[in-house]
Amino acid sequence: MEKTRLLYEGKAKKVYATENPETVIVSYKDDATAFNGLKKGSISGKGVINNRMSNLLMAMLEKNGVPTHLVEELSERDTLVKKVQIVPLEVIVRNISAGSFAKRYGVEEGIVFDEPTFEFSYKNDALGDPLINETHALALKLATKEEIARIRDLALKTNQLLKDYFSERGVILVDFKLEFGRLSDGSIVLADEISPDTCRFWDAKTREKLDKDRFRRDLGNVEDAYIEMMRRVSGKENEQ
Ligand code: TMP
Ligand code: ASP
Repeated sequence: MEKTRLLYEGKAKKVYATENPETVIVSYKDDATAFNGLKKGSISGKGVINNRMSNLLMAMLEKNGVPTHLVEELSERDTLVKKVQIVPLEVIVRNISAGSFAKRYGVEEGIVFDEPTFEFSYKNDALGDPLINETHALALKLATKEEIARIRDLALKTNQLLKDYFSERGVILVDFKLEFGRLSDGSIVLADEISPDTCRFWDAKTREKLDKDRFRRDLGNVEDAYIEMMRRVSGKENEQ
């Protein structure tokens, strides 16, 4: 499948049309931003890692009953995916306090929750992706009640599957953000990406951060963290 024209350029990916109206090609960049684009930089090799890792994780989820947009990895940075209309909600699941949760409620990072938390942000760069509740999302017609229920079920199922998957690889899944899309028949599938850009990962032994927080907070060794997470996901740690 070939790229025909650029449809959209986002902060970390480009999306191209293909000859098939039902598919698009996603191309992962090394560009990184934080704080709604205020902080800009580049993480060398990130696009290659995020492409591979997201595809491996989506394939695992698909096998376990979570429908995804994944069709086929085409190259180091490019993947063929089903064309979707993105539901403009960032779906965030948390297992441990960190990031904006810790800041908003004035608590330290690292509190382990008895149950995962679930929240939406309204995906709107001009507004800075504000937190939004379900009634507001319905009022704004961002999704239907049925879609929101389905998204919630799929996000919580994804959390369980990813938590177990990473735990087997010595990684704690702290929190993550998902995006869902509608196919032409109206069904909901997991879209966008699952990577160190969109998840918080801590090493289970040392609690070292192995994700984009290293870039957001200028912690150094950003590239190394992505490489280490890719090594864990590839299962290479079991081959020594
Ligand atoms: P937060 O604690 O900053 O709200 O982030 C929650 C999770 O969502 C974290 O794993 C990082 C991810 N995330 C994104 O993928 N994109 C974003 O724009 C933001 C703010 C967070
Ligand atoms: N991707 C987001 C941005 O630039 C932020 C983040 O991941 O922290 O704005």
